[in-house]
Formats: sequence, C-alpha cells, structure tokens
Amino acid sequence: MRHSTDLDRRAFLAMGATVGAVVGLPGVAAGAEPGKVKVGVIGCGSVSHAYLPHLSKSPHVELVSACDIIPERVKGQAEKFKIPNQYPNIDRMLAGAPFDLLVNLTDMQEHQRLNLQAVEAGRHVWSEKPIANSLAAGQKLLAAAKKKGVRIWGAPAMVVSPQFAFMAKTLASGKLGKLAAAHADYGHTGPDWAAFFYEKGGGSLPDLAVYNLTTLTGLLGPAKAVAAMTSVVTPTRKIHGKGEIKVVAEDNAMVLMDHGGGLISHVQSGFNYFNPHGHDGSKEQRHTVRIVGNTGFMGLVGYDWEPLGVDVATKDEPAVKRHATEKGEFVWQMGASLAARCLATKKELLITPEHALHALEVIQAARESQATGRRIALGSSFKWPVVS
Ligand SMILES: NC(=O)c1ccc[n+]([C@@H]2O[C@H](COP(=O)([O-])OP(=O)(O)OC[C@H]3O[C@@H](n4cnc5c(N)ncnc54)[C@H](O)[C@@H]3O)[C@@H](O)[C@H]2O)c1
Repeated sequence: MRHSTDLDRRAFLAMGATVGAVVGLPGVAAGAEPGKVKVGVIGCGSVSHAYLPHLSKSPHVELVSACDIIPERVKGQAEKFKIPNQYPNIDRMLAGAPFDLLVNLTDMQEHQRLNLQAVEAGRHVWSEKPIANSLAAGQKLLAAAKKKGVRIWGAPAMVVSPQFAFMAKTLASGKLGKLAAAHADYGHTGPDWAAFFYEKGGGSLPDLAVYNLTTLTGLLGPAKAVAAMTSVVTPTRKIHGKGEIKVVAEDNAMVLMDHGGGLISHVQSGFNYFNPHGHDGSKEQRHTVRIVGNTGFMGLVGYDWEPLGVDVATKDEPAVKRHATEKGEFVWQMGASLAARCLATKKELLITPEHALHALEVIQAARESQATGRRIALGSSFKWPVVS
C-alpha cells in the first residue's frame, strides 16, 4: 500500500516540474532544482552493469529498489549501488517501497508481462528492447499506459545521439538529392551468458537488428513494407551455467524495407559475425550505416549505438569530409536516465514508444516474410522526422 506522500509526489510527476518547484511537494526539490524520480530496476544481469552506473550519477534519479529472481544478483547490485530495497519478484517490488519509474532489464521474453504489470500498477516504464513480444501486445501496453496516465519508453536510444541528429539534419537539407538506398549492419558472435537470446521470442532481430531498424526508420521514415530472409547458422550453443542449448530463434537476418518514394533500405544482422574488436564498439571505424541519393553519400563511422562521426560526400563537395565527431553526453545506456529526466523536468524525448512499436512490427513482418516467402505490408507509424 502506497502512502499519501507518494501519491502526492506521483501526482506532481504527472503535472510537471514547474508546479513542483512552486509548491515544493514532498520528495521533490523546490526552487530551481528539478525533482528526483524514484526508480526501481528489475533485472540485475549483464546490462544492469551498464545502466546502473549511469542511473546512479543522474541528478534526476533516486535508486529505490532492485529486483531479480536470482538472489545473489540483486544483492550484488543493490550493495554496489547503495539501493536500499531488494526484491525477488515484481509482485513484491510493486507492493514494497514506492517508486515512480520501472527500469526493465530482464530477459527479452519477460518485458511484455512485467511492463504491463507495472503500468497497471501506475508506474512509468523504461524497457529494454523489445517493449513487448508482438505489435498487438505492444499496442495494448501503450493503450494501458495512456489510460493510466503513465509514460512508457523502449530502448534503443540512438536517436538522441549527435550523429543521428547530424544525419537527420543532412537528409532534411536535401544535400543527398533524391534518396535511393541505405544499408546498415551490426553483429557479433552472440551472447554466451543467457539462453533467452536463442529461445522463442529471442533472436538477433530484437536483440541486434533493432538498433539499425530504429536508426534507418528514424532517418528515412516509417517502413511501408518488409521482405526478409532469416536463418539459424549455429543450431546449438554453449551457455554458461546451462550447457548446450538448441537455437530456436533466428541468429542471422537480412531485412529489406520499403520507405516509399522508391527508397529501399537493407539491414543485415546476426549472432555469427566475427569482429576483430569483439563487443567493443569504440574501435569500429567502418561505415555501419550508409545512405545514398543521386547527389550525395553519407556514412556513419562506427556503430549507431557508439557513433564516432559521419562522413559526407556530395556533388558540390565531392571530397569525403568527416563531421559530428563529438559524442557529447550520449551513451547507448542513457535511455532510462533520460526517461527520469523527462518525468522530472518535462523535457520531452525524441525516443517514442510508437517508434519502438514500429521497429517491433518490422521484426514481426521480417519473420512472417521468412515463413511465407511474401512481402509484408506494415500498418504502424510514428512521429517523423525525428528531430528536436
Ligand atoms: N548485455 C548487454 O550488453 C545488453 C546490451 C543492450 C541491451 N541488452 C538487453 O538487456 C536485456 C537483458 O539482457 P542481459 O544481457 O542483461 O541478460 P542477463 O541474462 O544478463 O540479465 C537478465 C536478468 O533478468 C533477470 N530476470 C529474468 N526474468 C526476471 C523476472 N521475471 N523478474 C526479475 N528478474 C528477472 C535474470 O535473472 C537476469 O539476472 C535484454 O533485453 C537485452 O536485449 C543487453
């Protein structure tokens, strides 16, 4: 049972920081200081080691609760990041110490259920990808959030990077002319710490291709249709603590998207890609995202989640020139901290749940295309262009 100060504070978060600064509601800093958002993190595995350091440094975050079904994981992270409350499951967490924003870092297949439970309990949600297991379930989740008056966002967060902004601005300037084609790729040899990546509802599409799908749809606009091939290259894998498992979900995918107006893009992604830099994105110098039109070319240096710059060549300036080499505050694991900032200050994000749902529909359509051999029309959309 939540006590009234919590309800007051959460009402404040629904109203906006300006009001809180004037009224000085409990739990919210008065004056110029924006209020803090009470955060509960569920899932204390691999990615929490990237999220928690960022969240713990955010001026808008108070880490209140940590939860994992594996007791030593929740204990380890709670102690390291001085999180006062530990829980073994979401029911206990929701019934326990009050918090405003659930940060969901659990197995991909668990997101839908846990996100919905949190939303129905009146909590805002930042979810790792995918936000749900299907477009229909994701739409239901979003409708439930709207009905409850809470916010929900899903990873990935690359649309807030300076490199994404530069690319979106360059496209809007028309320098590349009539756009024709784009390509993006991302892969590594696959995680070996959890089986869910390879089980039904897992796969390289929602784990890896989702980055490139979000970037390309974010830059070029919502896809109108998808054609794809997927496969399993490595039928069995060895997982730490589990031994050999059967790979059920795709570990290799090629997705074609029709963005309308003749523009076609391609995303290539999988869990069987040798990479001389391993999982370290900072050393990748290739153009992993490329866009070409009839008067210009643009290539993103490095990965969209760890961008290092943008190369551009145009008819008027044909020598390739590197731009946007500054990273600013962007890191791929900053999404939950940004969600807290949005709740505390009402500074809106370019990251939207509708965009996450569109990427989810592309993934769903890619699997349907593989299963049927057909090109699949899409119905979802999101606010585009993605510019501030
Ligand atoms: N590991 C990375 O580098 C990375 C990077 C970006 C995104 N992600 C995404 O983050 C998510 C988690 O991946 P991971 O690599 O951290 O996996 P992981 O297996 O290391 O961690 C997941 C944790 O969630 C816990 N968990 C599962 N179901 C739960 C439930 N119902 N309630 C409470 N806890 C539960 C597990 O016990 C585990 O500790 C996935 O969506 C993945 O795609 C991971």
